[in-house]
Amino acid sequence: MAETKSQAGGPAHVAIIMDGNGRWAQQRGRPRLFGHQAGAKRVREIVRACPDLGVRYLTIFAFSTENWKRTQAEVAGLMTLFRLYIQKEAQALLAEGVRVRFIGDRERLEPKLVALMDHLETLTAGNDRVHLTIALNYGGRDEVARATKRLAREVAAGRLDPESVDETTLTRFLDTCVLPDPDLVIRTSGEARISNFLLWQSAYAEYEFTPVLWPDFTAEIFAEILGRFAGRERRFGAVKA
Ligand code: FPP
Repeated sequence: MAETKSQAGGPAHVAIIMDGNGRWAQQRGRPRLFGHQAGAKRVREIVRACPDLGVRYLTIFAFSTENWKRTQAEVAGLMTLFRLYIQKEAQALLAEGVRVRFIGDRERLEPKLVALMDHLETLTAGNDRVHLTIALNYGGRDEVARATKRLAREVAAGRLDPESVDETTLTRFLDTCVLPDPDLVIRTSGEARISNFLLWQSAYAEYEFTPVLWPDFTAEIFAEILGRFAGRERRFGAVKA
């Protein structure tokens, strides 16, 4: 497995579970959506900070396969926020060299939103400075199940020999097939769970849990966490050389 430290010794691929928007809003006596809107502003700031911090790949958890259990009003508000974010940010992301990809199951998403997602992916396909992946209706187990279904179809069609299936084969069928594995997974808001995020891909990732709520997560806090990562020794299951 290739180690993907950036030139500065920091992680090349950072994945973030952006948690705490609801509590941030509640602390201010405001509706939950107010917290999500503040969270969207932080996404902007953190994406912009990536090049200077040596982060080439940033993957963020925007909506999980479990988040449909929230109230209809919150789900609808989040979907509107995603649409607005794409519409408002597209030109800036293009100009700043950000290549945007989406992972997750698009089947359950509104066609209007899916069309915007497809358009943003196409628009930024020539960029290579920062690779931003937004997980939307994403669940790690769901992703592995969908990958397995696709793999099984290849076997059924006689295009894949089941005896040849190994870890690399399955990896090729995942939503993340073109991305390196994350080096570091950060979760905000004090919860120490992975909540079905990049289960397969983060087998050797380092984890950082911060009590900071996502709308308060600044570029300075991000830099501080990355600095701590640079000091860690990663052995990928091997012994110290
Ligand atoms: C978790 O906080 C956050 C979410 C489920 C949504 C994440 C969405 C954003 C940060 C908004 C914008 C994203 C993009 C890509 C534009 P929570 O609501 O579970 O917080 P709580 O645990 O305090 O209730």
